[in-house]
Amino acid sequence: MLNKSGVLILDFGSQYTQLIARRIRENNVYSEILSSGTSAKEILHKKASAIILSGGPNSVYRDDAPNFDEEILSLNIPILGICYGLQLLVYKDGGIISSSGKGEYGSATININKKKGLFSDIDSITEVWMSHGDKIEYTTKDWEILATSSNGVIAAVENKTKNWVATQFHPEVSHSTQGEKIISNFLFKIAKCKPSWTAGNFIQEQVLNLKKKIGDKKVLVGVSGGVDSTVVAALLHKAIGENSISVMIDHGLLRKNEALNCIQALQKGLGLNIKSYDESDLFLSKLKSITSPEKKRKIIGNEFIYSFERISKSLGEVEYLAQGTLYPDIVESGFSKSKKAHVIKSHHNVGGLPEKMDFELIEPLKELFKDEVRKVGLELGLPPFLVNRHPFPGPGLGVRIIGEINETRIKILQEADQIYMDILIEDELYDDIWQAFAVLIPIKTVGVMGDQRTYENLLGIRAVTSQDGMTADWFRMPPDTLSKISNRIVNNVEGINRVVYDITSKPPGTIEWE
Ligand code: XMP
Repeated sequence: MLNKSGVLILDFGSQYTQLIARRIRENNVYSEILSSGTSAKEILHKKASAIILSGGPNSVYRDDAPNFDEEILSLNIPILGICYGLQLLVYKDGGIISSSGKGEYGSATININKKKGLFSDIDSITEVWMSHGDKIEYTTKDWEILATSSNGVIAAVENKTKNWVATQFHPEVSHSTQGEKIISNFLFKIAKCKPSWTAGNFIQEQVLNLKKKIGDKKVLVGVSGGVDSTVVAALLHKAIGENSISVMIDHGLLRKNEALNCIQALQKGLGLNIKSYDESDLFLSKLKSITSPEKKRKIIGNEFIYSFERISKSLGEVEYLAQGTLYPDIVESGFSKSKKAHVIKSHHNVGGLPEKMDFELIEPLKELFKDEVRKVGLELGLPPFLVNRHPFPGPGLGVRIIGEINETRIKILQEADQIYMDILIEDELYDDIWQAFAVLIPIKTVGVMGDQRTYENLLGIRAVTSQDGMTADWFRMPPDTLSKISNRIVNNVEGINRVVYDITSKPPGTIEWE
């Protein structure tokens, strides 16, 4: 639920809409993305303190151009239009939009005519990100031109009688060098928002909501060691104490000491009611002789569900299941274009839910982005090593052992992976990397140690930078670190005599090897 000083973003299909929401929240102002057709009544009900009309790929004159409820224009709420949002706002107010056929795409400079309000404390000439084909041809006399691009395009306008401003460029994109300041000017100088959206306030509000909703019933939380489920567990513990039961299923494919470290941090550190179940024999017996990546994924996913079901039944009356759904998941499935993609990999989410279970769902993080979840985690007192760790896939090391999975191979990979992670921390690179891991490639190559010939396995190491895992680039690892990793692993891990570094980006590769 939006508090009084929140901003509603009407989404006209821009690839940057989520970025707008993030930029606003970075100013400690709550923001929510809604579909472009949201009614004025709903907007009033949500008590927005400002509205943003996002960009979008359309042209205002097209029959199928997305529109909005024009009653919104009479609500007397400050509005910022961005790109298509600017064109729509000017057009609805009697202006003319034209298509030159050329447009502006990429970086551009703009000259600012009025360094007040939206452009308060902004340089007279500043760099911005443009991505438009159409432009303003004419505005009614209520509008003032605030900035013009070096190509002669009207870059920003303000309606003198209403509290509306609009930019042809995208202040939310980092290439707009002073974009953050422009957004904060809109929030605080024009819309008079209050910066009250903080991790502390979020926790307070959620604890109250959770207490009210759950009462004295019981909640099950599946924890995987990942940051989202850990934060959900800590939040529920704060709200309802012993009545939240955290369950960790160890499928035997976790990193070395992972289950133990996580449980200790949650149990001893935060006093959580957490139960761990060692199901590794079961999982490994089902995986015996299986080499196909998809089969492995299906087996691990299904076994996880069976274990979870069996365990939850043994815990007595449990009414709710809590899980760590985040805001991007909701936005994706809510009203973005439906995506019909090929199945590249069957993802299995440890901590995710079996589909047909008899629980009501609780998703306390569904308004948050990942970095906000991390802030909430720290505020709840979770140790930074848990909060800032790299993502880890549900099927765990199962998709990082090429070919058959057995105890010997798991052990080799765990040892090598641990050394790799230790060195990344030692060399202060861990936090610059989005995700790093080792892969066991059971192909033997010849080596020499001392005077002895060796004939052992190959190890792949991977490190990527990414925003969200959808695309990724290989991390430019310093050669000295690579050398240290290779030496230490080959000298200490029996079963590995050669290390290679993966330099494939995504696409065309995927992050995991299987
Ligand atoms: P890929 O390999 O698809 O990975 O490029 C993208 C991100 O997703 C993680 N990943 C998974 N996470 N269950 C998960 O919870 C899965 O089955 C799974 N498979 C891949 C991967 O580690 C990377 O962060």
